[in-house]
Amino acid sequence: MKQINHIISYSVFENEAELSEVDISLFKSAKSAMAKAYAPYSKFSVGAAVLLEDGTVVLGSNQENIAYPSGLCSERTALFAAGSNYPGIKVIKMAIVANGDLLPKTAVLSPCGACRQVMAETTSRQQVPFEIMLLNPDGTVMVFDGIQDLLPFVFGS
Ligand code: THU
Repeated sequence: MKQINHIISYSVFENEAELSEVDISLFKSAKSAMAKAYAPYSKFSVGAAVLLEDGTVVLGSNQENIAYPSGLCSERTALFAAGSNYPGIKVIKMAIVANGDLLPKTAVLSPCGACRQVMAETTSRQQVPFEIMLLNPDGTVMVFDGIQDLLPFVFGS
């Protein structure tokens, strides 16, 4: 038997103002995506903006349904839109924001497991990691270099 320690890395920024201009702009796009959320049931609006290698920004927001499981999270909406409309163009980074009382102020705006799985598929499809940036309810920003730090031991790894 041997004990293995698995290290997960990420950066934490005090607020958005500490980010690069590109990242600030991507968060702005994520907020504009969030404004288009359809979340009458949870009243929790989520927005995601995906930056592609050619500079294209693809937006996604959560789209709920009265039959709850039929709805979709913002991250998957954005990644599926990117895959549908820009196949073969790599994802460089993704910014995620949310607004609503579902999460306490101290929570991390952590993508759900299903969205992580889809992020992993995008990564294996393009053979290169993409950055995942979360704007937490307290205003701090967490930046992950890739899905490997959010979903270790993904199926197929
Ligand atoms: N939601 C997202 O859009 N992304 C996540 O990673 C977690 C949750 C959405 C789904 C649902 O519309 C609402 O937030 C409440 O769970």
